[in-house]
Amino acid sequence: MKPHSVIVAAHALLSLASPSATHRDQPKYDIRPFRIDLDHGVPRMLDLVREARLPERPEYPSLGDSAGIDLDVLKGLREEWLNSFDWPKEQASMNDFKHFTVQIEGLKIHFIHEKAADPSAIPLILAHGWPGSFLEFAPIIRNLTQQANTSTNKSTSFNVVVPSLPGFAFSSPPPANWTIDDTARVYNTLMTDVLGYKTFAVFGTDWGSGPSYSLYNNFNATTRAAHFAFVPFLPKTVDALKVDDNITLTSAEAFEEAESETWLTTGQGYFGEQTTDPNTLGLALYDNPVGQLAWIGDKYIDYSDPRAGTGVSLVTHNEILREVSLYYLTRSFLSSVFIYSQNKADGFKQNYVKANTDAPMLFSAFKYNIAFWPPQLVSKVGNLVLYHNHDFGGHFPGIDNPPALLADLREIGNYWLE
Ligand SMILES: *[C@@H]1O[C@H](CO)[C@@H](O)[C@H](O)[C@H]1NC(C)=O
Ligand SMILES: *[C@@H]1O[C@H](CO)[C@@H](O)[C@H](O)[C@H]1NC(C)=O
Ligand SMILES: *[C@@H]1O[C@H](CO)[C@@H](O)[C@H](O)[C@H]1NC(C)=O
Ligand SMILES: *[C@@H]1O[C@H](CO)[C@@H](O)[C@H](O)[C@H]1NC(C)=O
Ligand SMILES: *[C@@H]1O[C@H](CO)[C@@H](O)[C@H](O)[C@H]1NC(C)=O
Ligand SMILES: *[C@@H]1O[C@H](CO)[C@@H](O)[C@H](O)[C@H]1NC(C)=O
Repeated sequence: MKPHSVIVAAHALLSLASPSATHRDQPKYDIRPFRIDLDHGVPRMLDLVREARLPERPEYPSLGDSAGIDLDVLKGLREEWLNSFDWPKEQASMNDFKHFTVQIEGLKIHFIHEKAADPSAIPLILAHGWPGSFLEFAPIIRNLTQQANTSTNKSTSFNVVVPSLPGFAFSSPPPANWTIDDTARVYNTLMTDVLGYKTFAVFGTDWGSGPSYSLYNNFNATTRAAHFAFVPFLPKTVDALKVDDNITLTSAEAFEEAESETWLTTGQGYFGEQTTDPNTLGLALYDNPVGQLAWIGDKYIDYSDPRAGTGVSLVTHNEILREVSLYYLTRSFLSSVFIYSQNKADGFKQNYVKANTDAPMLFSAFKYNIAFWPPQLVSKVGNLVLYHNHDFGGHFPGIDNPPALLADLREIGNYWLE
């Protein structure tokens, strides 16, 4: 066991940002407060956006968006980028959170750390994927730190940690042979040795589900609850579900299963490119903000609920533009796409095997997510205690259906023992 109290005290001291503070016990990890300041890159970004030429009209208008992002949508996004998008305002809202960096295993790891008032709050790490960032959780971070009841009236709040994946936003690119298991080890170090939490809960989606499941499976002494909106197991076809697993789907599930099959059969072009030739793509779009907008914007539009931007959904054009701006301005698009090639061997497991843990597992399905796992399948890989299927939302639940994700995350409180 590490001397948590010393590390926590050192962290508290740092948080007070007292420049003259010295401490005889040097902290093992140097946690530095961090502020986002990317203003210097904005003029060039907007110049490139302005100067990029797009075709006057679509080559094949009848195809609509069936062949990828629609030209008119891309043009509309570009107009907004130039005319109404306000980077300083977005940056200020990002800086409303407490950001830090710390060196772990030679990598600079960037993270948000927002604490609850209650000393018994549950430490919770929120793990984003591609093409996402900490922004995916911005609408719910503060709420999670506040006291609220679970469905059984258990009072719950969280100390929330949102790291940037290595190679994403402000976290440094990892070595070429880095995998999601390495990220899990770094996240475990972040939560325990760096931040002083003995145990914690984890939520993961998309590529964030890889390290989250690895924490659940490989760090069972510290990871005491895990919640997923996606799991790192190859989704099955409707036939395989029936033949291998004798699973019959409800009609709502059959809809989601059909979405999943569509993604598996016709939605994998970007996946193949990022798995096999990340340098080609990464270099082609490195200094090309409109190119990044087409590549990333397509995913936000295609993978969200068709009702995106209405009702509870916050997946607006502005949300897409601030995400793409973050990728462009941090020069992290190239390193981010490597996560596919680095995990080509074991990123999606074929065999559904139960994790080495007795810790509770929760799962939230969303109607328009790109992949679907029915509860019977999810229960093969963990101690499934809660499965909610939501009829609004898609692949980015923190922005597509924040109230549902927030409520489900709070349910961790019902199962939390430490
Ligand atoms: C939770 O508390 C509210 C207000 O006291 C009450 O109306 C409700 O029935 C309680 N729910 C449960 C599940 O105990
Ligand atoms: C929360 O639960 C407590 C019981 O534990 C109850 O007294 C209180 O009214 C609940 N609050 C709300 C907003 O339901
Ligand atoms: C991964 O690459 C680093 C150098 O970047 C090297 O030190 C390390 O031994 C490699 N690890 C494995 C498992 O090959
Ligand atoms: C398949 O599941 C059904 C119920 O859903 C059950 O009646 C049947 O016995 C199962 N078949 C096998 C081979 O397990
Ligand atoms: C944690 O994993 C180890 C190794 O697989 C296993 O021996 C142990 O029983 C697990 N602990 C729990 C609490 O599941
Ligand atoms: C989070 O809290 C704010 C302020 O109390 C509230 O306006 C917002 O609706 C909450 N978000 C969700 C998803 O409940």
